[in-house]
Parts: sequence; C-alpha cells; structure tokens
Amino acid sequence: STYKLLLLPGDGIGTEIMREMEKITQWLTAQGIIFFETETDLVGGASYDAHGTPVTDAVVAQALKADAVFMGAVGGPKWADVGFANRPEAALLRLRADLDVFANLRPAICYPALVGASSLKPELVEGLDILIVRELTSGVYFREPKEIVTLEDGSKRATDTQIYTTGEIERIAKVAFELAQQRRNKVSSAEKHNVMASGILWKQIVTQVGKELYPSVELEHVLADNCAMQLVRQPKQFDVIVTDNLFGDILSDVAAMLTGSLGMLPSASLGNTNPVTGRRFALYEPVHGSAPDIAGQNAANPLAMIGSLAMALRYSFDRGDVAEKLEKAIINVLANGTRTRDIADGAQAVGTSAMGDAVLAELQKL
Ligand code: NAI
Ligand code: MG
Repeated sequence: STYKLLLLPGDGIGTEIMREMEKITQWLTAQGIIFFETETDLVGGASYDAHGTPVTDAVVAQALKADAVFMGAVGGPKWADVGFANRPEAALLRLRADLDVFANLRPAICYPALVGASSLKPELVEGLDILIVRELTSGVYFREPKEIVTLEDGSKRATDTQIYTTGEIERIAKVAFELAQQRRNKVSSAEKHNVMASGILWKQIVTQVGKELYPSVELEHVLADNCAMQLVRQPKQFDVIVTDNLFGDILSDVAAMLTGSLGMLPSASLGNTNPVTGRRFALYEPVHGSAPDIAGQNAANPLAMIGSLAMALRYSFDRGDVAEKLEKAIINVLANGTRTRDIADGAQAVGTSAMGDAVLAELQKL
C-alpha cells in the first residue's frame, strides 16, 4: 500500500532540511522498499504570509487524514509582531492538540563519531541511547485556570494549573512500557510525589499499569529533580524515562545536551489510532527551531529531520528494518567525517544538501 505523508516545511531552515528528507522518501519509493505519496503545504510564518493564519483549517484537515505528518520548523523575527494568536508557534500547538499527539518521544543518542562534542566526559556518553517519553497535551501547560489577575492592592497573581487524570497517565504509561519492551526493558518514571498530588497519582497509576500489563518490564520511580541530576551524573543508567509535560520539557533539554548538537535530535509525537488510516496519529519533527541565523545559507544540519523519518519508519510504518538502515547510514556518514558546520568543530564543513546526498549514498550501500 501507499502511505500518505503531509510535509509542512515551515520557515527558515525548515524548507532546507525537509528537501533532504524528501530525497530519502523518494528513493525508498523508487526502489519499492516502501511507498510514500507526499503532499506539501504551508505552516507557521509562511502560512501567515499567504493566508493570514499560521495554520489553515484545510491543512489541519489534511493532517487528520495523513498516515504521518512531518514538520520542519516554524518562527522567525519576521513574525515578531503578528500578535499572540497568529504567532507561527501557535500552528504547532494547534496541530499537536487537534491530532491529540499526547506522547512525545525524544531519543537522546550519542553517535560514536560525536562523543567528543558532548559537554560530558566521553566515558559517560559513549554508547548513550535513552528515550524520553513526555506527556505533551495536558498538565500545567494546558490546564485551566491559566491567568494573571490584578489584586485589590494593585499587585498581581499568576495561576497555572497542574492536572492529570487516571486516563491521561495510563495512556502515556502504556506507550512508555511498550517502547521499553522493544529496547532494554526498563522504565524510569519521573515525578514529584513528595510535594505534588499529581505526582502521587502519577506514581500510583504507572505502578498499576506496569504490574497489570507489563510485569516483565523493570520499573523504577525517580524524583524529577534527582532525574535531572542523574542524567548528568550517569546517563547510561536510563533506558526509557516517562514523565509529565513540564518535567519532560526540562529533562529532554538536559538529555539533548548529552548528545552534542541540537541539529541532530529527532522527535515523534504519537496519539491514539486514527479511524481514517488505522494508524496512530503521528507528527514527526526535529527538536530544533527555524534557526533564522543560518537560514538560506545551505548550512543547516538535516540529520534531525532525516532521523525523524527513521522514527516514522519504526513507529508509524512498522519498518524497523528500514529505520535501522537509515540510522546506520547516518552513523556511517558521521564516521566518514562528513560534518555540517554545527558539528564540524572548526573543521571543514559540507552544506545541507551535500549532507543529505551523503546519507542517501550510504543508504544505497546498505
Ligand atoms: P533554534 O533551534 O532555531 O536555533 C538555536 C541555535 O541552534 C541557532 O544558533 C541555530 O543556528 C542552531 N541550529 C538549530 N538547528 C540547527 C540545525 N538543524 N543545523 C545547524 N544549526 C542549527 O532556536 P532559536 O534560535 O531559539 O529559535 C529560532 C526560531 O525558531 C524562533 O522563532 C523560535 O520560536 C522557533 N522555534 C521553533 C520550534 C519548532 O518549530 N518546533 C522549536 C524551537 C524554536
Ligand atoms: Mg523546551
């Protein structure tokens, strides 16, 4: 069968890195390895310029019918004054919410050739391969009340609300346990049950899901602040870390620094089964932004975007075999010394398109 991909390159380097990813999807299709049909549309500032909104209803409708959605990146100084509702980043939040992609998967892998680029000691990050599973559509970033009110004495009071329900915790826990079963069979659940009611429920529900459905997966509970410390102290103790929206935001940034470069990090956001496609709702995107400082210079690193395609092959299309080859191609390219500027450490660098070509050339050999 042919899978429908919706490509939303967005702004800045988004269009440049998406082009490199498309080289791979086109080659896979031409070879008959897996058949993709792609449709490309506007999102973010590019959509605002064309339609006066960062994402149109038509694009959301396409996203709801696609087998997988790929986003480049959105935003940039050009759209600094468009107002809060029209800011490019609002497109991202709307797509995440409308697809209800509640599970954000962020792998932190330290590639052998880049061990020296990490801020940590080589022995701490060599062979590092952890996966952070962050709850993405609830918790303190989304729940109401969320407001700033002026009090009688003229001072102000700001409120955010942390809420998690049994159902929300169950569904993210299941994703984490299932992924751990395909990896090293260990889940670390990070919360703050010592000071937060939501932490108590989180710990209780994750424990229950583990006991009832995944008794063979090792489960440990770790306080979120300690988790941050352990990630820096001894990151290889972790396999899958499951955590809420706020802690996941912070812990995944900590983990990102272990790997050396923002331009290397892919992500997947998964939801429930889409009745139209029979597959999970899925949004794949690099962790980084639109990098306006290097946009249009053929200097962006496309590996995070290409790595996001590898995640799609694994999680949306059940083609772990092809995903592994693509990841191996990335490893080989780096081992050959091919570097974009962000990871060149002062040495000779290649452009975005040459990096994409190099990955494709390696893939063709595997
Ligand atoms: P950024 O991630 O765009 O850039 C941070 C630094 O990393 C810059 O020096 C940039 O050149 C570099 N960088 C990022 N990706 C790279 C790549 N693939 N190759 C080489 N170098 C790379 O974050 P920044 O500068 O804070 O934000 C820029 C814009 O992007 C803002 O409008 C921001 O709101 C937006 N943004 C969008 C995101 C998204 O679409 N998911 C996520 C983060 C930021
Ligand atoms: Mg963040």
